[in-house]
Amino acid sequence: MADFLSSSLAYLYPWTKSLHIIAVLTWMAGIFYLPRLFVYHTEKVKVGQETDELFQVMEMKLYRYIMNPSVIAVWIFGLMLVFTPGIVDWGTIWPYTKGIGVIAMTAFHMWLGARRKDFIAGANTRTGRTFRMMNEVPTILMLVIVFSVIFKF
Ligand code: HEM
Repeated sequence: MADFLSSSLAYLYPWTKSLHIIAVLTWMAGIFYLPRLFVYHTEKVKVGQETDELFQVMEMKLYRYIMNPSVIAVWIFGLMLVFTPGIVDWGTIWPYTKGIGVIAMTAFHMWLGARRKDFIAGANTRTGRTFRMMNEVPTILMLVIVFSVIFKF
């Protein structure tokens, strides 16, 4: 059984990696855009206004229909790659730096989800400046993740 799984993963490798990178692209599109929506939602909209509802709908659709399916796909195809024979050498550093980076990126995804719920409850207390600064977090994590997996140090 284990042999069958390993040989199937090895055969599927180009597909798994392609689907992994595609899911990463759609996830990152949402991770970079949602904080920008929060900046304008905070600075340009009052609770209960018509635009408040409009922003809530945009944030919900982005988070539920793009970001959540993407993060699940990134993890599924990423873990399939981890179990593909010969791909990850645990004697090197990159699997750990990348691992820390993707866990932190996933935590950031969840932080955005909690902020989205704050807006729904009309209870957001963070400023536009905070969301602008937090928008730099995925940039730094993406650099760590991509340099890790390409240079494989
Ligand atoms: C969420 C959990 C993730 C896991 C378990 C994971 C795991 C992996 C593994 C094992 C590979 C194969 C490396 C190879 O083919 O040599 C890979 C490739 C890749 N990953 Fe991830 N990854 C994850 C998330 C991410 C994220 C968030 C990004 C970008 C922000 C990313 C970017 C890439 C890229 C660009 C490649 C292709 C590297 C190449 O062409 O050699 N991954 N990933």
